Amino acid sequence: MAYTVPKLKDFSPAALDKAAEKLLAALDKEAAEVKTESDWKIFRDRWLARKNGILTQVNGGWLKAAPRDAKREVGLRVNELKGRVETTVGLTVRKGEPARDIAKAKQWLGDEVAEGNRLDITLPGVRRALGAEHPVIKTMNEMVGVFRNLGYSVQEGPEIETDYYNFESLNFPPNHPARDMQDTLFIANQESKLLRERLLLRTHTSPVQIRTMEEMKPPIRIVIPGKVHRNDPPDASHSPMFHQIEGLAVDTNITFGDLKGTLDHAMKAFFGSSVKTSFRPSFFPFTEPSAEMMVSCFICGGSGRRGSEPCRPCKQTGWIEILGCGMVDPNVFEFVKENGYDSRKVSGFAFGMGPDRIALLKYGVDDLQLFFQNDVRFLRQFA
Ligand code: DAH
Repeated sequence: MAYTVPKLKDFSPAALDKAAEKLLAALDKEAAEVKTESDWKIFRDRWLARKNGILTQVNGGWLKAAPRDAKREVGLRVNELKGRVETTVGLTVRKGEPARDIAKAKQWLGDEVAEGNRLDITLPGVRRALGAEHPVIKTMNEMVGVFRNLGYSVQEGPEIETDYYNFESLNFPPNHPARDMQDTLFIANQESKLLRERLLLRTHTSPVQIRTMEEMKPPIRIVIPGKVHRNDPPDASHSPMFHQIEGLAVDTNITFGDLKGTLDHAMKAFFGSSVKTSFRPSFFPFTEPSAEMMVSCFICGGSGRRGSEPCRPCKQTGWIEILGCGMVDPNVFEFVKENGYDSRKVSGFAFGMGPDRIALLKYGVDDLQLFFQNDVRFLRQFA
């Protein structure tokens, strides 16, 4: 007697296992009886047809009919059955035995494909969910895109860096207090090495400035997206791993006006043409003068208020601090002067920003950790 899908009354695991076992026994038996191509088509449709195929009936009669608290157990089994049925039907491509032996089955499938007429390529394929760009990567790509449109090229560098590139060549001398601005993760057991050769996790993307200037003669215009690490415990606005986008332009006669014009344009291209920018003095060892740039709050439009509520992202100031920047310090050019960077002939500006924070603000996310926990339910919202 041909197998029919029973209506289940008992949804206990034991009863489910028993029902699944019966179904699989029937599947194997029927697969073994497939002799010809038309047998196989009938076999396939009986098990897989959307309309009333055995799997469809299992879905309706078992999964949909299951009481709430049994759904999980039933779902697990139905999924497994689905996999087994699809595999068996797929592998029973030649008359005779179902191909229990995978190697043999592959060989058969290969033969069939070579013969070109036995495999039904009209069967539905396996659908994979489309992925989406992570919100931080998306933000980085958009920002990098703005600079590419200005003629900047993209550079990358290693995440494990030497003290020389991360600090010394950026004008942080050994033991200089400016090193304390960045709580650094050093690789252990390197005391026997010279300081400049010791390895650390780069604390910023600025070392790629020097690496690039060693390779490319001026003029250059580059952006450097990448991961950086600091010894900061994770909380709503900190993470031991985060991202930066660095920028560097070196040419003859580059001025602070070029810096302001470029960054102002970039912010308008990114956040919308109504944002304003503002600069205030700051300090970084590798730029002189140095500045912090703020953009007018793109959430409250710079008013500091959202209706009757205070605007939280800009702390009611109407401004959001977005990046550090400045004119390249001549001491930095000293380290690459052999490659054409004579500070009497060329000048440049640099900047560095944090796309994680920009993404937080842009998407109104209140906890940085959400970006790194990779919970699909969170990430799916950005697809
Ligand atoms: N490297 C700095 C940091 O991580 C950011 C920065 C500031 C980069 C000013 C620059 C710059 O290129 O000019 O805090």
